[in-house]
Amino acid sequence: RDQPRSRGLGDVYKRQIDCCVGKERIMKTLIKGGRVLDPASKTDAVKDVLFEDGVILKVAENITDDAENVIDADGMFVMPGLIDLHVHFREPGFEHKETIRTGARAAARGGFTTVCAMPNTKPAIDSVEMVRYIIDKAKEVTDINVLPIAAITAGQDGEYITDFEKLKENGAVAVSEDGKSVMNARVARQAMRLAAEVDIPVFAHCEDKNLVARGVMNAGEKAKEMGFYGIMNAVEDVIVARDILLAKNTGARLHLCHCSTKDSVRMVELAKKEGLQVTAEVTPHHFTLTEDAITSDDANFKMNPPLRKQEDVDELKEGLSSGIMDCISTDHAPHHKTEKERSFVDAPFGITGLETSVALTITELVDKGVLTPLQMAERMSYTPAQIIKSDRGTLLEGRPADITIIDPADEYVIDSSMFASMGKNTPFNGKTVKGRVRYTIAGGKTVYSYRPGCECIVDKDVPKL
Ligand code: DOR
Ligand code: ZN
Ligand code: ZN
Repeated sequence: RDQPRSRGLGDVYKRQIDCCVGKERIMKTLIKGGRVLDPASKTDAVKDVLFEDGVILKVAENITDDAENVIDADGMFVMPGLIDLHVHFREPGFEHKETIRTGARAAARGGFTTVCAMPNTKPAIDSVEMVRYIIDKAKEVTDINVLPIAAITAGQDGEYITDFEKLKENGAVAVSEDGKSVMNARVARQAMRLAAEVDIPVFAHCEDKNLVARGVMNAGEKAKEMGFYGIMNAVEDVIVARDILLAKNTGARLHLCHCSTKDSVRMVELAKKEGLQVTAEVTPHHFTLTEDAITSDDANFKMNPPLRKQEDVDELKEGLSSGIMDCISTDHAPHHKTEKERSFVDAPFGITGLETSVALTITELVDKGVLTPLQMAERMSYTPAQIIKSDRGTLLEGRPADITIIDPADEYVIDSSMFASMGKNTPFNGKTVKGRVRYTIAGGKTVYSYRPGCECIVDKDVPKL
């Protein structure tokens, strides 16, 4: 068992065997006795999972097999690898905030085997070359899937629509102007028409640029008290309404990013009742915190859209519970320490999310009865996979062995200094949470493991944490 079997992986493999997960990361593996949660087959039962060569071989009770590697998953959730439709990896252009490598490490540590990277880099991901660049770079540095989202307009300037067909052919899984909205309704409509034609989803960041003015936090009493300009709910709501109507007009598949208001939820409900192809995501910070969490000039609480009121949070949770809101995405938005040390007014919008998402979902939603564990797997893996038409997000036999193992009972304090992400900008540092990722397995390879006293991330050429 100490002698790694040669699988022809040469030097890469040899370098990795030092790491505690190194030697077993490519072996035939049996996950014993976990609570298997697979929405595709509506499975919520104690079962074993067997995989080899990156493929799930079998999911059943009491599998007997002489697999070289056995993981005891007693008391753990065994889910299809988590999928985050919305992250910012900052490469190229802002490598001082995050790189594809560090972002992928953060994803692995957070239980994610697939992430979709937003195009607001420098240059923006608005060409076939840039899409290929992200894909190639990701393949070079990580075993998790980093899938590019392409810009809707050249340079995200809001004028000239990019070539959706070519971008999709080359691996873009969605188009988005995230960071802002396409403000010109004629351009937005034309983009949706073209997206419908090539069947690529449009990921919409809904924010009316004129209405937002100089706002930095939710509009209302609290903003007045803090002395900051506010961002009204209407800033989001008017674009959500417009984009749903444009989706109806064009037949586009519309996915609404980081919904934060109660009226967004109501409009998504109406859209679904009409049978439109509209989906929506909620971030952990928007279902966990309200504007009342902002008690000082701390830019770790500054994000776009902003933290709202309790009535909004309640509606978002209700929407996640009922399925009106389809999925949980992080909007992982790392920024450099010096940028977030600035005042609330001057700091950039955004917080990191990949390494706190599982714990916040368990603490705020599963433990409080908002989501069942099976629904958690649905909102964090199965449904995101459907939205980008991926065959992942399930533990069905024959599918890629993307698996996340979580200890739902492990209670601990979030420590941002332990983040694998370069971005330590989180409002959750010091928060006591429940739910810890124990293994992240991507394509049959263990990319992350945690045991008390030994935490290990394995990407491709840096074997040790
Ligand atoms: O808070 C945010 N940060 N919202 C966005 O829409 C963009 C993101 C970023 O890129 O930092
Ligand atoms: Zn956004
Ligand atoms: Zn974003």
